[in-house]
This record gives sequence, structure tokens and C-alpha cells, in this order.
Amino acid sequence: MSQKYTVTAALPYANGPLHLGHVAGVYLPADIFVRFLRLKNEDVAFVCGSDEHGAAITLRAKKEGTTPQAIVDKYHGINKKAFSDFDISFDIYTRTSTDLHKKTAQDYFKVLNDKGSFIKKTTEQYYDEEFNQFLADRYITGTCPSCSKEGAYGDQCEKCGSDLSPTDLINPISTLSGKTPTLKETSHWFLPMDQHEAWLKEWIKEGTFEGKQLHNPKDWRNQVNGQCMSWIDGGLHPRAMTRDLDWGVKVPVEGADGKVLYVWLDAPIGYISATKEWAEKNNKDWKEYWTGDSKLVHFIGKDNIVFHAIIFPILLKEHGGFVLPDNVPAYEFLNLEGDKFSTSRNWAVWLHEFMEANPDKKDELKYVLTSIAPESKDAEFTWKEFQARINNELADVLGNFVNRAVVLSNKYFEGKVPSRGELTDVDTDVLAQLKTYPEKIEKLIRAYKLREAQAEAMNLARLGNKYLAETEPWKLAKTDMARVETIMNIALQITANLTIAFQPFLPQKASTIAEFLGLDLLKWDSLGSDALLADGHQLNKPSILISKIEDKFVEEQIATLEASKLANVETTFEPQKDETSFDDFMKMDIRVGEIISAEKVKKANKLLKLTVDTGLDKRTVVSGIAEHYSPEEVIGKKVSILMNLAPRKIRGVESQGMILMAENDKGELSFISPEKNFGAGGEIR
Ligand code: 2FM
Ligand code: ZN
Repeated sequence: MSQKYTVTAALPYANGPLHLGHVAGVYLPADIFVRFLRLKNEDVAFVCGSDEHGAAITLRAKKEGTTPQAIVDKYHGINKKAFSDFDISFDIYTRTSTDLHKKTAQDYFKVLNDKGSFIKKTTEQYYDEEFNQFLADRYITGTCPSCSKEGAYGDQCEKCGSDLSPTDLINPISTLSGKTPTLKETSHWFLPMDQHEAWLKEWIKEGTFEGKQLHNPKDWRNQVNGQCMSWIDGGLHPRAMTRDLDWGVKVPVEGADGKVLYVWLDAPIGYISATKEWAEKNNKDWKEYWTGDSKLVHFIGKDNIVFHAIIFPILLKEHGGFVLPDNVPAYEFLNLEGDKFSTSRNWAVWLHEFMEANPDKKDELKYVLTSIAPESKDAEFTWKEFQARINNELADVLGNFVNRAVVLSNKYFEGKVPSRGELTDVDTDVLAQLKTYPEKIEKLIRAYKLREAQAEAMNLARLGNKYLAETEPWKLAKTDMARVETIMNIALQITANLTIAFQPFLPQKASTIAEFLGLDLLKWDSLGSDALLADGHQLNKPSILISKIEDKFVEEQIATLEASKLANVETTFEPQKDETSFDDFMKMDIRVGEIISAEKVKKANKLLKLTVDTGLDKRTVVSGIAEHYSPEEVIGKKVSILMNLAPRKIRGVESQGMILMAENDKGELSFISPEKNFGAGGEIR
């Protein structure tokens, strides 16, 4: 009987594209795990979708000057396509804006509300008087009370990871108006998390729940157990499950006008509605994947631990009839070329862009990301390492071995698998080692150590290379063809095993190798066998399995990264003005002038009265530069003067033109002077 699994990958907010950090630390490991389970003939539902609610979306819409709906439509499309191009094998990739999800989330809320799982409380919350809006979560920033970092959000400090309430922040500021908010009363439905401490503690520490051993706590990652215990030991507090917002799933009870479900209640229920949607389309019963002995596994980033290992389990338990998570493999963060991935600074390699530019390199990228996956500590992606891993490992070890095995067999035996004769010690030794791989790799995958698991698959290719290097069939071909038959048979059996061992990690390469061998893809229980290819079986001619990465490719990637960072530098300069015509421009008469005298304008701190030699005349110009220049220091300066500006009286003095000034981002002023020693009167065009 196969084991049922529901494997979830954190629903990404549809407020931006996905970068390699997201991929390495959630979606790729989840995909590898699921592909392995399918190879083991387990019964898996692999669900994901866009998280389309919450302040993350509305704030992005505000930033881009558009509607939340336009934002989610745009990024749902981009991310769904990127996942598909990268061959992440979700059974379903849906979105939390579907009617099915809304109904599922509302029904769920109602069940809990009817059971008395929430406490309705009136509390004071921050309110932006200018925008007439309560300020939930990310609508408010301030100084973190734990680490003193400025710009911490009302729900979390991204620097120290502290979970916060808006009222915890020091010097709170509304992100809408930039002003200090006021406190105003509002009612919400709270989940009394404090009432759940005892069972949570036992479940996380011992893996037991209601007297049953559900999981072995040693199988959970240290940082997951650690973060949960530090939360629980610090004391859990009631947490509001509703928000005053107009974007989200409406709270489905009386007296909740203008309120929506908290996104962290809504989103994990998205896993359930995604399973329902998939089951409906595939003639399955979704409940079987969420009840009984089905195993629920959540792949997430470390910033999501508390929501998946504490809050969602409370919601599952309170509802009743659901399994609790069997494991919550959480990943640390991936950095990029020595710096954090940053959407706002555009310091990122975007998955959709990588796939558009390099559709033939998806498994190469998978290989590198799994090799450096941030499983137990933060890790780093560099393009140099990308190149080195592909060239020195994928190409030189896997590519080289497969190529030699298939090319030599084609050369010596017209591509027909030769039979084995008597075995030597080297042969029996290599076949004995081959048999150890299924268990080794399986154990690592089940322990969510996918980096090591992939490294073991690569060791199998190394074993093959070592075997060929030791037995040297190319030399024996001149003297002992019978021995060569045995060697090539064994080398081909190892090659066939590689199509299985690499299937979870590099599905496309595994298929290509299988094509070289003229072999169907096999299931995991065939791994370790020395009889995957029958004597006389016809092989195909191989092509290149892995192309090496040139230095030029690396240089281009780094240049693109640097350029996009520069292009995105936050600027305080005014945006470009509307287009103007050449004729309009030519109407302006701008010339080089020389300031020949200067004095302060009485009772006006900012103004200097200048006399300017324009080449045509000597005229008076009033200029607002007195806070930047003293009268003495401007005398003798060559400046640009707009001659034909209509004269204006400023503080009783008629100004006959305007001195043009440049202003930098610090607000400093500078004259615009000819860089050559020009006299007064030259026209500026
Ligand atoms: O951190 C995030 O991107 C969230 N959208 C993850 C949600 S996971 C789940 F609960 F759906
Ligand atoms: Zn902090």
C-alpha cells in the first residue's frame, strides 16, 4: 500500500517575481522530495499557488500606482509560467482568489467561530487619520524593540526575526501618510494561542499528540524546533485572525463589515483549497490527503516557521479531522554575490528571466542550487561557482562518464549491450558498491538532506569514472575483447542506474541519458540492480549531455546584475518632465553671463540681487541662492542666464531674467558655467 502525502510549498505572494533564493530554499527541494516519493510509488498531492491577499499585495499596488487586482494578475502569471518553465512538478498551482478558496477559508473560519475557538476583543489599534484606515501589519513601521533596527514592520522585524505587534514598535509611522498614527478602538477575532501552549510543547518536543507518537522530533530541523520552543517558552499571546482591510477574504459573520481574514489564516487554508481543486479535477477525494495516516509536509523559508509549526497546527487541531504536519523542512536564506537578495534594490537573479534567457539550462541551475541549498545555514550563489559546479562536476564527472560508457559501447559493439564474462575483484567490488546507493540516497532524501543526497548520486557517476579509469577498456580493446565486454556491460549498468538516481534532482538529464540508452525511465526499486540492460539491447548514439559554461557567460551575468542594480538606484530626483518640442526649447534665450556685482536683498534670507553682464547689456537679476553663496564669492562667476523670461518684481526689485542652477540629491546648488574660459554673451543651446 502506498503512503499518502500532501506536500506543500509556501504560497508565494503574488507581489513580485521569484528569485533564485526562493527557488533554492523552498520550491526546488519540495520538487526533489516529491519526485522521489513518486519514484517510490507513493501517493502524493503536491500543491502550491499564489498568495494573493494581505498587505504585501496592496502596498505593492500602491508603489506601482495600480490596483491590487492588476498586481496579482501580473505576478501570478509570471510566477506560474516560471515554475512551469523550470519544471517544478506541482500537481496544482492555483491562487487564493478562486471562489473555491474563498468559500473554503470562510467555512473554515465559521467552524472555528461556532466552536468558540476565537475570542472577540475590542482593542486599540493604530489608525491613519489622513487615509481613514487602520494600519495592519506592514502598513506601519518603526524601530524594533528587540534589535533597535529602524523600519521594522508592524508584524515582524526582518533583521532579527522578532514577531511583533504594531504597538510594540518604537516611533511608529504610517506607511500610507508617513505620519505618526493615532490609536483607535476596533474589534477583532483573536486566536488565543496562549491556551494551546501545553499540547504544542509536547507535540514539538516529543512528537506526541493525544497520546499518539506522530513524528520523531529528531527528524525536524534544529532551527525549526529551536524557533518554536523559543516562541512557546517566551509565552504565546492571542493573535488577531481578522484585519480592517478592504482586500482579502471577507469575514463571514455578522458585524464584520470592512473586515477580512488575516492573510496568515487565509494562506495556509489555501493548501487545503488547492488540494480540493486538484482532487475535483482528478477524481480524487481530497480528504484522504488531509486525514488518517496521510503525511503533511510543508516546505518553507525560515521566516515562515511560526506560521506553519505553531499557528496553522492550532487551526488544524481546532477544526478537527485534519492531520498535523509530519515535518516542516524550513530553509535558511540564500545570498547573491556577497549581498542579500533584494527586490527593492533589484539585486536578484529572477527565475523567469533566467528561464527566458537559458531554457536549455534548467537542470544545470537545479544542480547548482541543490549543491548550495541553504539547508542548515545561509548560503551564497555566485556565477563563478555556477560555472565551476557545472564544468567540474556535472560535465566532467556525470557527462564524461555517460559519454564514455555510451560512446565506447557504440564503438566496440555497434551499440549492442555486451554480456558479462567472469568477474574480477574490481568488478565484484564495483557491483557491491552500486548496491549500497539506493539506501544511502533514500535515507538522505527522507531526512531532507537533499544536498548530500544529490552529492551521493554524483558519487555513483564518480564510481563509474573510477571503474573505467582502473580497468582501461580502451587499452584492453587491442588485446582482450572478452574482458572489454564485461567492463562495458558493467559501465552501462551503472549508467542505467544513474537515470534513476538523478531523476529526482535532474529529471531532464535523467531522461536524456535514458534516451541514449534506449531505456524507459525506471522506478526507485530498480536502483542498485546490475541487470537493467539486457545483453544485446540496442543503444542510441549519444549527443552532448552537459555543455560547459564559458567565461563569457559568467561575465555577462555579472554585468547584467551590476547594471540592473545601478538602473534601480533609489533616487530622490524628480521624474522626467513631459516631452517638449524643439521649437519650444528654441524659444528660450539662454546665454553665458558674468556676475559683476552682488548684494543681499533686504529682509529676504534667500535672495541675492545680482548685476549680470550678458554681452548685450548689464541687467539686474534676483536669484534665490543667498543660503548657498555669499555676495563676495559670486562676483566674477560665469553663469547661465535665461534672458527672455518675462520680468518679475521680487521683493520690490525687478528681476530681468533667471540664473540657472543645478541641484544635487542633497539639495546643494551649483552654477552652470562654461568649462572653457568664455566671455559673457555666448548663446547656450
Ligand atoms: O512569505 C510568503 O511569501 C507567504 N506568502 C507564504 C505563505 S505560505 C502559506 F501559508 F500559504
Ligand atoms: Zn529586530
